[in-house]
Amino acid sequence: MSRGLILGIESSCDETAAAVVERGARTLSSVVASQISTHARYGGVVPELASREHLRAIVPVVRAALERAGATFDDLDAIAVTSGPGLAGALLVGITYAKALAFARQLPLVAVNHLEGHIHAVLLEERQSSACQETSSSDSASQPALALVVSGGHTHLYLVRPVDGAWHYRLVGRTLDDAAGEAYDKVAKLLGLGYPGGPWIDALARFGNPRAVPFSFAQIKTKVHLGGKPPRTKAATTAPIARLNPRFLFSFSGIKTAVLRYVELHGMRKEASGRVERVLADFHPPKTREAALALCSQPTLDLIASFQHAVVGDLLKKTFAAAESLGAKRILVTGGVAANSELRARFNAEAEHRGLRVGFPAPALSTDNAAMIAAAAWPKFLAHEFAPAALSADPSLALGS
Ligand code: KG4
Ligand code: ZN
Repeated sequence: MSRGLILGIESSCDETAAAVVERGARTLSSVVASQISTHARYGGVVPELASREHLRAIVPVVRAALERAGATFDDLDAIAVTSGPGLAGALLVGITYAKALAFARQLPLVAVNHLEGHIHAVLLEERQSSACQETSSSDSASQPALALVVSGGHTHLYLVRPVDGAWHYRLVGRTLDDAAGEAYDKVAKLLGLGYPGGPWIDALARFGNPRAVPFSFAQIKTKVHLGGKPPRTKAATTAPIARLNPRFLFSFSGIKTAVLRYVELHGMRKEASGRVERVLADFHPPKTREAALALCSQPTLDLIASFQHAVVGDLLKKTFAAAESLGAKRILVTGGVAANSELRARFNAEAEHRGLRVGFPAPALSTDNAAMIAAAAWPKFLAHEFAPAALSADPSLALGS
């Protein structure tokens, strides 16, 4: 009898990942080969290096995923792969490998949108924990939910509904320019912190005063975009902004500039440049106040805390406003920034206050991984929604309607 095992493959950005998931509900293995050390010295992902590293890692990563799951290729029912959005060359490595494997093993191939994968990271977590508690999750699983996908490439709000076993997604909000994770990475870079910036800012923010610098999102000029002028980034052209409620639009490029101006006005540039070498030598952000103070002055820690407080506050305000306006009783928060400790604490507190439920992926499944791809593929596998032989990478693949 079929065990319902799907091998997921993910290579859209800077992680090569493979995982084996049973019936979209139980992770048997999840292997992620991170390229952080390759890209760290450049302060961001270098697409050509990413493709090269994926080529190196894909075979051993898939092998490790099968071994850890105690499975062989013969045990698999399907192969799932991320087909977009992401870096074209990076996506192609996973797609080409998955296609060859599916052809050689005569297995069906399922194409998964990376953003849908992130949403399924939370659903997978819910299914796994409800299986552990032996309670049924069918009630909550049948309700529409508001999903915030917040990562290095995206800050998108979707209304998510299950209909007859399939999942439907309606885009209700998005960023007009930078993603929230991109703002974290750019601010970390200008402060001389490590890459990716999110974990560094997360770790350092707890030692600063979040109210020291009153950053504001009030001045977001969404009307410029809504007035028909071209959006500032290529990504912003991929979704119809004009039909979205302006209350659910984000913009994170302004706060990055505000931090830069603050650094220059307050003479903090020299401190930031002095930090770069020390940070590059140490991969992990400091965990104690003493270690944080040895790396950053108190005004820098206050600036970091204020930046994070403002970004999380904006994400929180718009997500809960969208949930309320669309009648969603459940919120799903996912993507790399969903690993943030302040974000988790404040979303949990707000949800409790409003009597809503909020779900996050396990921290390891917040950032890119392949378990979420295999989980998202399960309903498509059941519906026989298989990828065509001509499947190719779609760097700006949109999700839903
Ligand atoms: O989902 P992900 O691994 O890749 C994309 O699809 O983009 O997200 C990576 C992003 C990076 O911008 C990183 O700085 C951010 O997630 N990130 C965090 C944290 N951990 C990762 N941001 C804030 N706090 C964190 N703890
Ligand atoms: Zn991602």
